[in-house]
Parts: sequence; C-alpha cells; structure tokens
Amino acid sequence: MEIIEKAPAKINLGLDVLYKREDGYHELEMIMASIDLADRLTFRPLKEEKIIIETNSGFLPTDRKNNIFQAIEVMKKNYPFEGGVHVELQKNIPVAAGLGGGSSDAAATFRGINKLFQLNAEMEDLMRLSIPIGTDIPFCLQGSTALVTGLGEVVTPLSKPLPQCWVVLVKPNISVSTPRVFSKINVDDLPHPNISLLKEAIEQDDYKKMTKHLGNSLEAYTASKYPVVKTIQERMIQFGADAAVMSGSGPTVVALCEKHSRALHIANSLKGFCREVYVVRTLKQ
Ligand code: C5P
Repeated sequence: MEIIEKAPAKINLGLDVLYKREDGYHELEMIMASIDLADRLTFRPLKEEKIIIETNSGFLPTDRKNNIFQAIEVMKKNYPFEGGVHVELQKNIPVAAGLGGGSSDAAATFRGINKLFQLNAEMEDLMRLSIPIGTDIPFCLQGSTALVTGLGEVVTPLSKPLPQCWVVLVKPNISVSTPRVFSKINVDDLPHPNISLLKEAIEQDDYKKMTKHLGNSLEAYTASKYPVVKTIQERMIQFGADAAVMSGSGPTVVALCEKHSRALHIANSLKGFCREVYVVRTLKQ
C-alpha cells in the first residue's frame, strides 16, 4: 500500500503586510496561486513506530526539523493510528526560495496520511492543525488561486483561476530566512500593493490589469539586503516580461508573460546569471 501526493509550489502575486500583532506575527493580505512545479511524496506504512524520510535533496533535514516529520506527528497525535510512516520525497521546488516548498510538502503529508490510514479528517481541521507548523500550509492544503488573510489561515478561493499565462521563476543563489525578514521590517515604512484591485483583475480575467497590480510589501526590504533581487527583476522587464514581482519573503522573482516565446527568452537570458531558472504555467482550477 502506498499513497502518492503531488506538492505544488506557490507564488505570491500580491503580498500586503497590514500590521504587526501583539503576538509578534503579522496580519497579511495575499493573493496566492499554485504553479506547475511540484515535489512528489510517496507515503508507506511501517510496522515500527518510526518516521523515516528519504529524499533526493542534500539540503534538507530528515528529522523533527522537517515540516513533513512535524505534520506526521500532528496527525498521529490528533488521529491516532498504528505504526509508523516511510516518506520518499522527490524534491523539485527550490528550498528557502519563497515558493512554499516546505509548506506544500507538509500539506501533501496531511493529505497523504489522511488517505493512507483512512482517518477521515476534515479539511477545516487539517487547516487549523497545520498553522503552527507553517502559515502557508492552509493555502497549500487547498491550492489553486486564493485570497489568503489573517496569518495565512483564512483561505478564500477566487471565483476564477489566474488568466492563463507563463511564469518564469528565477532564484538567486542565496537563502532568505522568513522569520528574519519579518523581524527586521518596520510596518509603517512598507509599501502596500492594492490587493482588492489585483483580486478584481483576476476575477475579471483581465490579464493586463492583473500585471499592473502585482506587488509585495516585503520586496523592498529583501532587495535592500540582496540587491541581486532588484537586478533580476530589472532584467526580466528589460527582456520583455509583462510584470515581475518577488514571491513571499524571497529571494525568488516571478515574471509573467502572455507569450511562451517571451518566457523562454527571459529564462534563457537569465540562465547565465542564475542557475535556478524555471518556466512553468499556473495550475488550472
Ligand atoms: O510561515 P512560517 O510559519 O514558516 O513563518 C515563519 C516566521 O515568519 C514566523 O515564525 C513569524 O516570525 C513570521 N511570520 C509573521 N507573520 C505571518 C507569517 C509569518 O510574522 N503572518
């Protein structure tokens, strides 16, 4: 018996930091979309009470520091099942990139364990249980295109998928720590993208309007620490992107293009500059 789950990456087309809460977390308003770049997880039951994670990635911990490990422990505590779990993780999404790879792996684990042990857990409960592990996990549990608010726990799917387009992802060879970015920003100094207009554009299937309203409150801070982010963004526009924005807390920059040939041109032009370059589509709902 085995369960295979795909764990798609996410991009932030819009990310607005509204304010800092008393508990230190930040109230956010985001438009997130799943894209056609995914990790692949295979879950198998074990007789022994063990969690074993095997992965092709040399960078990831396979102990309790891994989100997959934590998700299995949370499932076991809340929906007791017998025995352990063996997880094979084929890692394709860049790590610490702002693409939600770790969160999507955890979301795939909640879904996979639910199926493997027939636990009949409700989506709502999984979303609630997942938030202490990572604030992007509730979105990753649902996927597609959504307005995400609160810390990340309020996920409202949009009435339409993203207008079809090509997405170029470029990750410079640096890792950005999300807690560090959030601890360094001063909310009063941040720019605020107009998330309502971005949402409206997507729901009107208006690609041009959508490209005008991409924005990320965290971009200026990350780019001030890592100027390469700004350089990538400028080059994307120079090579013909319709728009370019940093995803999450970075450092990956996302370019949107209507034409496939244009997306390939941007990708090829940036390959000499960065090693991790991808051309993908958004996922249909
Ligand atoms: O998403 P994740 O839980 O991995 O977030 C990492 C860190 O980013 C949190 O521990 C917190 O410091 C910060 N954060 C925040 N407000 C949010 C989401 C994350 O301050 N809404």
